[in-house]
Amino acid sequence: MLFPFPGFPVGPAAGWCKTLDQVHQLSLSSASYVMTGSYTVAPRDGNPGNVFNGDPDFSLNSLGLPNSGLAYLQKRGRDMVEIAHSFDKPIYLSVAGFTPEEYRILAHLGFECGFDGVELNLGCPNVADGGKRKSIASFDLTVVDEILYSVGPPPEESILLAKVSPMTNPNDIADLADLIRYYPVFAVVTMNTLPNCLDFDSAGRTVIQTPDATGWAGGAGKFLLPIALGQISQWRKALPANIRVWGVGGVQSGDAVRKMLYAGASVVQVATALFLFGPRIFSDIASEYLDLEPLENICA
Ligand SMILES: Cc1cc2nc3c(=O)[nH]c(=O)nc-3n(C[C@H](O)[C@H](O)[C@H](O)COP(=O)(O)O)c2cc1C
Repeated sequence: MLFPFPGFPVGPAAGWCKTLDQVHQLSLSSASYVMTGSYTVAPRDGNPGNVFNGDPDFSLNSLGLPNSGLAYLQKRGRDMVEIAHSFDKPIYLSVAGFTPEEYRILAHLGFECGFDGVELNLGCPNVADGGKRKSIASFDLTVVDEILYSVGPPPEESILLAKVSPMTNPNDIADLADLIRYYPVFAVVTMNTLPNCLDFDSAGRTVIQTPDATGWAGGAGKFLLPIALGQISQWRKALPANIRVWGVGGVQSGDAVRKMLYAGASVVQVATALFLFGPRIFSDIASEYLDLEPLENICA
């Protein structure tokens, strides 16, 4: 049940799936696995106002991690697992703590519920408390170290995924890879949205409303693809061979999946297109991808 997904190594990126019904929809789809949106310990309403502005080429969001929190997972986590497994699909839980201890609590609940893996969201750029933006974990080596130490190893039948923000300084990737290699991380998932993108409507208002009134939001969509390919390739080079790279960013076609595999990804994730088109996007991408020449031995 764990991994891999021969044939079509493509599934959802964290974000869209937060209810039993959505787990069911993804289980029915052509996605190879199910991934939840990020859960936090306390339930969150998310940020107020217009927090998503999207077209396939360029989406901006500042959702602020709306989710029903730990209590919902305690009640429904096992049901989520049961639904996905009844379709023979692995299911991964995305978690976002505000402290290393919160990451530990959420991850361990995920393991207890039987999730096949837990993805640590170390790269959310859109979280504010009291109007102040929280810093992004993956840009701070000490914080990542504390989180991974606190979470500890997953049980034998589960995997640990570490999802990071895009990094423009190549040395940052090398430094973080040098830390992650000492932890039982199955794959680095790159990348979360591009932090602090900005756009305006025709009246000069920021298209996204943020609690700190800047309008800065996470950028995603097709424009990310070359950035994501560069991140995958750099991470692949920096990590030891036993830690995989899962690719995210700008994937909406079979051709884009293929490019991610060329760059070194072993699994490919899709977010913006899932928000815009729903789970049918996976059968669209699958039929394009499967029409391409087969790629031998590229998925580890
Ligand atoms: C509306 C929206 C909500 C998202 N929510 C999450 C989330 O809960 N956790 C997370 O790790 N990433 C989240 N992301 C980031 C995506 O998983 C993905 O990393 C990013 O959007 C790039 O992929 P894309 O170009 O296919 O959208 C979200 C993205 C979008 C567009």
